[in-house]
Amino acid sequence: AKNPVRVLVTGAAGQIGYALVPMIARGAMLGLDQPVILHMLNIELAAEALNGVKMELIDAAFPLLKGVVATTDVAEACKDVNVAVMVGGFPCKEGMERKDVMPKNVLIYKAQASALEKHAAPDCKVLVVANPANTNALILKEFAPSIPGKNITCLTRLDHNRALNQISERLDVHVSDVKNVIIWGNHSSTQYPDVNCATVTTSSGKKFVREIVADDKWLNSEFITTVQQRGDAIIKARKLSSALSAASSACDHIRDWVLGTPKVENCLGTWVSMGVYSDGSYGIQEGLIYSFPVTCEKGEWSIVQGLKIDEFSRAKMDATAKELAEEKSLAYSCLN
Ligand code: NAI
Repeated sequence: AKNPVRVLVTGAAGQIGYALVPMIARGAMLGLDQPVILHMLNIELAAEALNGVKMELIDAAFPLLKGVVATTDVAEACKDVNVAVMVGGFPCKEGMERKDVMPKNVLIYKAQASALEKHAAPDCKVLVVANPANTNALILKEFAPSIPGKNITCLTRLDHNRALNQISERLDVHVSDVKNVIIWGNHSSTQYPDVNCATVTTSSGKKFVREIVADDKWLNSEFITTVQQRGDAIIKARKLSSALSAASSACDHIRDWVLGTPKVENCLGTWVSMGVYSDGSYGIQEGLIYSFPVTCEKGEWSIVQGLKIDEFSRAKMDATAKELAEEKSLAYSCLN
């Protein structure tokens, strides 16, 4: 039998946490043959609720779940973890703007960076979910210099999955027949959902989405804004932000990163979107955590290279990079 993998979920008593921990315990993140030990962190204020989640996890009698650590102590939470899913953070309440919550989250992510660096397994893979996700991940990376930069990522897979779904609904095909959309940039309303390389499997073979969605106008406007604003639509409907879809997408992100993205579909394979540290690919400045198309193999992601970028895409990719650069300087100004 395999050794258990230790998975940390911060903010585990919150909405996403409550949906996410049973998915991990059922094998949706690391596979149906992979035992796990769950580490759950929350703040003192939510200690009792966190303990309640632990009680439920035990009551559910998951065969793969070999242990549960529920704690408000960051060092204990991070001890020897192999995967860290960072969901905890200061929420953006009604009437608050990004810049109001930035100072709080920057300090939280700076402190948790140090704890991970000191206590996590050296090859720990980190996924930041909490908003502002890209900038929180950047702060985490900058303040945990001994964790390889490649191990720190943020979640844009939910946006990716939302884009696949918009296309599948439009074409009345199953979502798994749509592939290779791209989310570029920030997990915010400036993100650029790109369908220029997206394909769909039809009864007459594989086609580019652009070949069969005749309506360019829809693809170049409504499709993009619907994906960008889907989070707000969920809040409007549920009076709460996306939780089960965020949790499920976080599992997709880690699963593909650890177990690999599907190979040989066409020469480029099937890719997914992940927020990763920019190496300058596609002219995106280094030093930002930016969402790119990536393929994964043997636990490592690499940015898909060589895609043609037209003028329309260029402008949108640069606009979301500009927002990230602004967030970065705001984050640093909070630290001074
Ligand atoms: P929530 O407010 O229900 O849960 C957050 C939890 O984090 C709370 O239990 C809170 O006590 C805890 N927390 C606060 N500070 C903490 C700290 N220092 N250490 C550990 N835990 C701490 O929020 P929800 O709905 O679960 O969302 C979590 C985050 O995920 C939010 O920032 C949200 O904006 C973000 N999000 C990101 C998505 C993405 O695609 N990247 C999608 C949906 C939400």
